[in-house]
Order: sequence, then structure tokens, then C-alpha cells
Amino acid sequence: MNQVQISVSLLAADFARLGEEIKAVEPFIDMIHIDVMDGHFVPNLSMGAPVIEKLRSWTKLPFDVHLMIAPADPFLKDFAKAGANILTVHPEAGPHVYRTLQEIKHLGCKAGIALNPGTPVEVIHPLFDIVDLILVMTVNPGFGGQSFLMSGLTKIRDVRTLIDESGRDIQLEVDGGITPQTAPQVIEAGANILVAGTAIFKGNDYAKNIQDLRGKHG
Ligand code: DX5
Ligand code: ZN
Repeated sequence: MNQVQISVSLLAADFARLGEEIKAVEPFIDMIHIDVMDGHFVPNLSMGAPVIEKLRSWTKLPFDVHLMIAPADPFLKDFAKAGANILTVHPEAGPHVYRTLQEIKHLGCKAGIALNPGTPVEVIHPLFDIVDLILVMTVNPGFGGQSFLMSGLTKIRDVRTLIDESGRDIQLEVDGGITPQTAPQVIEAGANILVAGTAIFKGNDYAKNIQDLRGKHG
């Protein structure tokens, strides 16, 4: 398997200094995870394409954009133009998820599908020929700083088996409650991208926080 990658969630960063926060973690991470929330699909609001567009000049690292919005389709183009590299949608966000993934690819982005804690793995079976990334949520989406749901480990294992059987190069990302304690468990279960916000943007030694997350996998 590839080396484990860290995608830092800006949700836990200082929103008044997002560019500087990116610069502070940039040398130690692989991607920037940007949580887009609409106050409707999830009970919280965060940021939209104009903010992403402004952040694009601060780093060359890939922007891993997690869309917690419904519908997502009318906004895909804006996020692609703003500089997203990966666009991940939830299957509950619209009636035609395959078409949504096709549109994301057409826009030149990698296409991701996110599974909520209550969403069965079967949802991704028909998507294996198109999807580039599967995001397993280990908290209910909407807020940072929540506790990791252990039931996610079984789901990560099941998704890992399906990816390996598919023979395709599909990333397995895990999002929610990732700490130095839970990171080794999700890696063991088969994840290769870890999203982390709270565990990284705490105190002032971000480099050490990230090293603690990587553990022996760094
Ligand atoms: C939650 C978001 C996560 C969140 C993770 O809806 O999708 O990306 O920022 O935050 P932590 O690392 O604090 O669990
Ligand atoms: Zn996220």
C-alpha cells in the first residue's frame, strides 16, 4: 500500500488567518482538506468557493474539497474553477450520484464519494469504475472535534477489501476524530489518507502534532 497521507482539515484552523495556517502546516502534510457546509445537508455553515479561490495562491498542495451540501451539482463548476483537485460528494446529496461523479471528472477533478456513519457500504458497489476516492466518515458530518465512532473500523476494512478486489487505484480516506490513538487503528484497517483538524491545530507545535499522528508510519 502507498505511504499514509495526511489531509489537514481547515475547519479547526483560525478562520481569520487561513493562509498563514496553511503555510504553517504545509511542510509536513500532503493535502488540504476543505469542509464545505450549507446549514441544510449538515447543521453547520463553513465556507464556499470564493474562499477556496483566495486560498489557492497560498500553496501548491492538492485541495481535497469535502462537499457537505445538497444539492451539490449546481456548484461543482465553481469549486473546480476555484482550484479544487478532489471533489467529494455524499450520495444523499442528490438523486443521480453517478452523474455527479461523471461531472466532477469532466471538470478535471478527482471524484470522491463519502459514506456517513449510517450509510451502507453497498452504496459504492455501482461506483467502482468511476470513483477515485472513498471517504469513510467516522463522525456524523457537520462539526470538528467529535469523538471517533468505533463502528467505522469495520466499514474501513470492508471498503479496503472492495478496493483491493477492484484492482483500481482508489484512495481510502478517513475523516473524523482522528488522533494519535485512533490513527494507528484506521491505518491497520486499511486507510491510506487521514483527515485531521482538531488534532493538528491545537497548541502551537503543529509539526509535532502531525508527527504524532503519523507515528511509526511517518
Ligand atoms: C466533519 C468534517 C471533518 C472535520 C474533522 O464534518 O468533515 O473534516 O473537520 O475534524 P476533527 O479532526 O476535529 O475530527
Ligand atoms: Zn471533512
